[in-house]
Amino acid sequence: MLHANELPEPSESALAVSNELRDYIRRAIATHGHIGFDDYMQMALYKTGLGYYQAGAVKLGTEGDFITAPELSPMFGSCIARQCREILENTGGRIFEFGAGSGLLAAQILADLEKTGGLPESYEILEFSPLMRERQRQTLAQYVPTLLNRVKWLSQLPQAPLDGVILANEILDALPLKCFKTIAGKIYERRVHLVGNEFSWLDAPADPLLSKQVRRVVSRNIINHSSEYVSEINIGVQPWIIDMSRMMRDAVALIIDYGYPRQEYYHPQRSNGTLQCYFRHRKHTDPFRYPGLQDITASVDFTNVAEAVDICDLQILGFSEQANFLLATGLLDEAEQRSSTVNDVGRLRIAHEIKVLTLPTEMGASFKVLAVGKGYNLALSGFKLRDDRRRL
Ligand SMILES: C[S@@+](CC[C@H](N)C(=O)[O-])C[C@H]1O[C@@H](n2cnc3c(N)ncnc32)[C@H](O)[C@@H]1O
Repeated sequence: MLHANELPEPSESALAVSNELRDYIRRAIATHGHIGFDDYMQMALYKTGLGYYQAGAVKLGTEGDFITAPELSPMFGSCIARQCREILENTGGRIFEFGAGSGLLAAQILADLEKTGGLPESYEILEFSPLMRERQRQTLAQYVPTLLNRVKWLSQLPQAPLDGVILANEILDALPLKCFKTIAGKIYERRVHLVGNEFSWLDAPADPLLSKQVRRVVSRNIINHSSEYVSEINIGVQPWIIDMSRMMRDAVALIIDYGYPRQEYYHPQRSNGTLQCYFRHRKHTDPFRYPGLQDITASVDFTNVAEAVDICDLQILGFSEQANFLLATGLLDEAEQRSSTVNDVGRLRIAHEIKVLTLPTEMGASFKVLAVGKGYNLALSGFKLRDDRRRL
């Protein structure tokens, strides 16, 4: 992990956008004295026209700041497509994707489902950023031009009840969250204030709501005995699941992200939390370095997701590490088929992609797949090798 001072310099035009966003956040802080990290993250990532996911830079892929599984390998999309086909055979209806990145996952799924005769009625994408929408449209026009008319972009959740599949790849890790610190039995909220002109952490006694939330998820042993324990709580997960549940009728949601069941998340040894920033493929932990130019993210507490699922009218249909899910949905068949059509260099690339998608030291174990259903209680083939829902 790099120190934030070792990061490459952004271009002058990028810095100008970041400085404008800095000024905007400074004004918000000046009005209140200090703000929650959730408010800081909301502005840094989503402020219209200036936030990381709203403004111009490339973000995903080798030219951007980080690579997601659909960017890494088309085989990821093919495995997801197989799981979608099985669900759609039982539900009919459509596919709905939250925040579709470059559009590669949508393109791969549509291309595969066309080949196997299982196309959904439509493919809807909820995307807040006009720039990302345009990028997705270009990707789909390039890879599946004849299917572009099936794709609809939405700026809010659909009103019509959804039968079919919901996809959320690396969405929950991007929801604004609260940061906290515990020191010898006391709980503090890590808020953001200004020291001179710079953003800085401010530890303020946590309000009763946050204290209650922290006591619910972190063991008493850690709270009372740690000299200092820093972590975060994703307060956006429950409202997000509630909203998703409202739109589902006969549907299955596949939620894919990096994270852990709670016992592993709030582990005594993870005493610095999981907050990470990404800038041009460099990972660091300073969220104040380049607001608007770097991604800010944290791992997902999947037990938190499961608890939100419980309070809605939803069922957990499976939970496993990404490697097991992809192997169960035909990753190796895909690799074999694709390998037979390419040269040695292509085969080496496919081998590399399999390694990154499945090795425990890469994405294989840190990424999890959680399937959540409404009106659907059939077994999903993605969990036939392993279903770890008891770990939640
Ligand atoms: C790390 S990117 C993942 C993009 C893509 N799914 C992929 O895997 O390549 C996170 C995305 O989540 C989107 N996002 C965050 N909150 C969202 C929400 N409530 N609804 C839809 N998209 C959301 C962001 O705008 C961003 O595009």
